[in-house]
Amino acid sequence: MDALQALQQRVSVARLAGPVPDQESQDNLFKAALRAPDHGMLRPWRFLTISGDDRLALGELFVSAQQADNPDMTEVRHQRMLAKPLRAPLIIVVIAVLTEHAKIPELEQLLSAGAAAQNMLVAAHAMGLGAMWRTGGMAYHPTVQLGLGLKEHERLLGFLYVGQIEGKTRELPNLPIEAFVSPWIAS
Ligand SMILES: Cc1cc2nc3c(=O)[nH]c(=O)nc-3n(C[C@H](O)[C@H](O)[C@H](O)COP(=O)(O)O)c2cc1C
Repeated sequence: MDALQALQQRVSVARLAGPVPDQESQDNLFKAALRAPDHGMLRPWRFLTISGDDRLALGELFVSAQQADNPDMTEVRHQRMLAKPLRAPLIIVVIAVLTEHAKIPELEQLLSAGAAAQNMLVAAHAMGLGAMWRTGGMAYHPTVQLGLGLKEHERLLGFLYVGQIEGKTRELPNLPIEAFVSPWIAS
C-alpha cells in the first residue's frame, strides 16, 4: 500500500484479535510516531505498550478508578471495566511530555504528540493491522494516570488499541473536499 492510499483510506477498527503485532511491526509503528512534526525538537511524547496479562492489570486499574467514583459499582460494570483492555492484543498509551518553553506553547507540544498517534494509526493501516484511538473517562482519571506512572508535566492523550483485523472493516464515504476547504480571498 502506498502512503497516499494509507492516508486516504485509513479507518478505525474496533474488533481486533491476536496475535500481538510482531516486534518489527511494532518498531514500524514507533518509527512512524517519531517522525511526527516537532517544533524545537522537544520530542514531547512517550509511549507505553501493554499486552498479555498486563492488560488484566490495566483492567484492575480501571476498576479501582471506577470504585473511587462509585463504591457501589455493580458486578456487571465491574466485569465490563475489567474486560475493556482485552479488546485488543496490544495497547499503546500515548503520553504528551510537556516542557516549559518560551517559544513553543503547550498546545504545540500536545499537537505533536497527537500527530505521533495519528502516524501510528496510519502506519498500522498500511501494514494491514487494525487500530483504534480510544480515551473515555478512564484516560482522564487520576487513578489511571497515577497507576500508569504519569508525572505532573505529562498528559495522557489516549489508548491506541492495535491488533489483527477481525471481520470486515467499515466502508466510509469520502467527505466532499469543498465542504471543508475554501480559498481565502484577500480583500
Ligand atoms: C482523541 C480521540 C479519542 C477518541 N476516543 C474514543 C473513545 O473513547 N471511544 C470511541 O468509540 N471512539 C473514540 N474516538 C474515535 C475513534 O477513534 C474513531 O476515530 C471514530 O470512531 C471514527 O472512525 P474512523 O477513525 O474510522 O473515521 C476517539 C478519537 C480521538 C481522536
